[in-house]
Amino acid sequence: MAEMKDAPADAPLSVKAMTWLDNRFPTLFAEYRKHMSEYYAPKNFNVWYFFGSLAMLVLVIQIVTGIFLTMHYKPDAASAFASVEYIMRDVPGGWIIRYMHSTGASAFFIVVYLHMFRALLYGSYRKPRELVWLFGCAIFLCLMAEAFFGYLLPWGQMSYWGAQVIVNLFGAIPFIGPDLALLIRGDYVVSDATLNRFFAFHVIAVPLALLGLVVAHLLALHDVGSNNPDGVEIKSHKDARGVPLDGIPFHPYYTVHDLLGVSVFLIVFCAILFFAPELGGYFLEYNNFIPADPLKTPPHIAPVWYFTPFYTMLRATTDPMVNALCVLVGIAALFNLVRGSKQSLALRGGLVVGAAVLIVLMKTFDAKFWGVVLMGGAVVILFFLPWLDHSPAKSIRYRPGWHRLVLALFVVAFLILGYQGTQPAAPSGSALELLSQGCTLIYFAFFLLMPWWSRLGSFKPVPERVTFAPH
Ligand code: HEM
Repeated sequence: MAEMKDAPADAPLSVKAMTWLDNRFPTLFAEYRKHMSEYYAPKNFNVWYFFGSLAMLVLVIQIVTGIFLTMHYKPDAASAFASVEYIMRDVPGGWIIRYMHSTGASAFFIVVYLHMFRALLYGSYRKPRELVWLFGCAIFLCLMAEAFFGYLLPWGQMSYWGAQVIVNLFGAIPFIGPDLALLIRGDYVVSDATLNRFFAFHVIAVPLALLGLVVAHLLALHDVGSNNPDGVEIKSHKDARGVPLDGIPFHPYYTVHDLLGVSVFLIVFCAILFFAPELGGYFLEYNNFIPADPLKTPPHIAPVWYFTPFYTMLRATTDPMVNALCVLVGIAALFNLVRGSKQSLALRGGLVVGAAVLIVLMKTFDAKFWGVVLMGGAVVILFFLPWLDHSPAKSIRYRPGWHRLVLALFVVAFLILGYQGTQPAAPSGSALELLSQGCTLIYFAFFLLMPWWSRLGSFKPVPERVTFAPH
C-alpha cells in the first residue's frame, strides 16, 4: 500500500478532503492528471475541434433523457404509440424530455458528421491515429443501429414501414437473407416481437457498446495525442520536462474553450427544441404522428435525414447502374493490367480474373442486392481510409489547392444524395436518377481512387512546428 500523506492541520477543508480521497483512491487523481491537467493538446485547435466534446455532450443528453423516457414508455405494440402521446401530454415535463431526445438524435448525427469531416480536412485518421479512426467508424455504425432501433419505438407509420423496408433489405442477401430478416423481426412481419427486441437493443445493448467504444476512442487518442489543423506532430518537439512545446494542458485551456462550443450548441439546440422540434419534418416526420397501421402503406416512405445519403445509393442501384458498374470494373482491371507496371504480371492477371468473376456475380444477383452491398459498402469503406490516403501532407492546408475541390465535390455529392433520399423516388431513367447515380459514383471514386489522386500535385512545405496566431 502506498504511504499515506497528511494535509497540514491548518489546510482548508477542501484540501483535507482531497488529500483524504487521494490517499484512498490515487488512481482517480492519476487519471485526472493523465487525461485532463497533464494531457497536452496542440495549442492551435480551431472550431472544428469543438465537435468531439459536443458529441460527448449529446451522448450524455441522449442517455439521461432516454432513462426518463423509459420510465413512461411501454414497449408493447398495443400501447407504445399511446404511451408516447401520454409522455407528450400528461407526464410533467415529458414533452421537453421527448423533444430533447428526438432533437438529440439528429444533433448527434450533425455533430458526428462534422467531427468526421474535420478528420478528412486534417488527415486525423493517418498514422499514428488509425485506431482512433477505426473506433470512430465502429461508433458511427453503432450510432446508426441505435437510431434505427429507436425509430421503431414510437410505433408510428414511419417507424413501422421504415423498419419494414430496412429489415427487408437484409432479406435481399443471397442464401441467408430470408432467415436473417426473420431473425431480426422475430416474426414474419414487423410486430410486437420486433418492437420488444428493438427496445432491448436500443436501451441497453447498443448504448453499452457505444459507451465502451467512446472510452476506447478517447484512450487511444490520448495514447498517441491529438492531431491539429497543421497535421504536424507536437510530440516531436518537447522541452526538458518532456512536455510538447506546442502543447497546452487540456484543463483548464480546452475545458474553458469547449464551453464556448457548448454554449453556442445549446443556443441552437434550444432554439430547435422550443420553436421547431419537428424541423419541417426532418427531425420528426409528419407521418409518424399517425399510429402504425400494418394494412396501410404510406405513399412515400423515407428514412430520417441522416440515413438518406445511403438510402439514395440503394435506390440508385438499378439494372443500368449495375451494367455501368460492370463496365467500370472491367475498365479498371484492364487499365491496371496495362499500366500497373510495379505489380507482378501474376497479380495483374489475378486482378483481371477477379474482376471477371465480380462481373459475373454482378449479373447473377439482382440489382436490389447490389444496392444493399453499395449501401453497406459506403460505410465499410470508411474503415479503410487510413490506408487509402497516400498524401505526403496530412492537413489540407499543405495539400495542392485542387485537393480542396476534390473534397468539396465529395461533400456536395454526399449532400445531394442526402437531399434526394428525402424526396420521392425519381422516375426510372430520369435526370434526377442519373444525378443520384453520378453522386454515388463520386462517393465511391473519392475513396477508391484516393491512393492515386492523394499523391498527385505540388504540396506546400509542411512546417516543423504548429502555426498559431493568438487573437
Ligand atoms: C459518440 C461519438 C463520438 C464521440 C463522443 C467522440 C469524441 C471525440 C473526442 C472528445 C475527441 C477529441 C476532441 C476532438 O478532436 O474533437 C475525438 C477525436 C477524434 N475522433 Fe471522435 N468521437 C465520436 C465519434 C467519432 C467518429 C464517428 C469518428 C470517425 C469515424 C471519429 C474520429 C475521430 C478522430 C480521427 C479523432 C482525432 C482527431 C484529431 O486528433 O485531430 N470520432 N473524438
